[in-house]
Amino acid sequence: MKGRESRSHLIVENAQWDAGRAAADRQEFLRDVVEGLSRRPKSLPCRHFYDAEGSRIFEEIMRMPAYYPTRRETEILARCQRDIREAMREEPFHLVDLGAGDGAKTRILLEPFHREGCLQSYVPVDISGDSLSRMAESLRREMPGLVVHPLADEYFPALDRLSAAGLGPKLVLFLGSTIGNFDEREAVSFLKGIRSFLEPGDALLIGFDLRKDPGVILRAYDDEDGITARFNLNLLARINRELEADFSPAGFLHHAVYDPEQGVARSYLVSRRDQAVRIRKAGLTFRFEAWESIHTENAFKFSPAEIRRLAEASGFLESARFSDREASFQNSFWTIPG
Ligand code: AVI
Repeated sequence: MKGRESRSHLIVENAQWDAGRAAADRQEFLRDVVEGLSRRPKSLPCRHFYDAEGSRIFEEIMRMPAYYPTRRETEILARCQRDIREAMREEPFHLVDLGAGDGAKTRILLEPFHREGCLQSYVPVDISGDSLSRMAESLRREMPGLVVHPLADEYFPALDRLSAAGLGPKLVLFLGSTIGNFDEREAVSFLKGIRSFLEPGDALLIGFDLRKDPGVILRAYDDEDGITARFNLNLLARINRELEADFSPAGFLHHAVYDPEQGVARSYLVSRRDQAVRIRKAGLTFRFEAWESIHTENAFKFSPAEIRRLAEASGFLESARFSDREASFQNSFWTIPG
């Protein structure tokens, strides 16, 4: 490491974090639901899909034959791990994994990186402290000697703590095409936020789902088995559970469309009839006309040129790109322009 002392012991697992987080999440959820259902047209932010049940259904989605992004990205990471390491100009480095989840995809990089001694530490960042601790324990067992520092936090506070700790070179991972769930303005602001915590020598490896045959994309968001429908409808069930509402899941249907002009898959929940829903925690009743929609998600798809422009608009330089054989998905390697 060049001139920067490693002070990674400053990063601690934060045991109290989960409890405070849950209360703050609930407040934010209530506020977003009231705001979103008061709008015309109605909408709900897709980040609220991921309660315990939503996260479990999302794992089912990732195993679906129609949901290609997870398999394509896994294939890229396995095939390109050597090139990814070579694209990183400084070694050893810290691997910082934003939204690590169970770390399944990251293991593909971790194993060879750890074996070949190019890693200083692995820092998975996730808001779920429980799943992080489980993952850290199993990694320490499977890869003896691997230094794992889980950070149960939001991304920016976590990156802030890391940059304040003066760790040295970092490769930040933002995998899984989650960037596609932001609109362009949100994506640029989020990426500029990440950029502000990075220094020359650091890099960002980010996953993008590419534009392709609209039929293939649409099937990924509207599968025949109705798994994505369950995922979408779980948002209403979550409002029932956490905000004491009386949505009837049978009163709404999942609807997905793909717009090839904008390159976006949009998901909706559509009311099958005139109905009123009481949300007791908000002390409010919301009315739905027959066939009125609630927009719940955008999933943007990108061309390689759009990805390069997004890198530049966010203060990065795309210095390498890795794609699968079908050019279905791209992991783009961004550095800090000198
Ligand atoms: C988390 N995110 C990248 C997924 C996507 O493909 O946009 C969420 C998802 N929604 C429906 N299926 C998957």
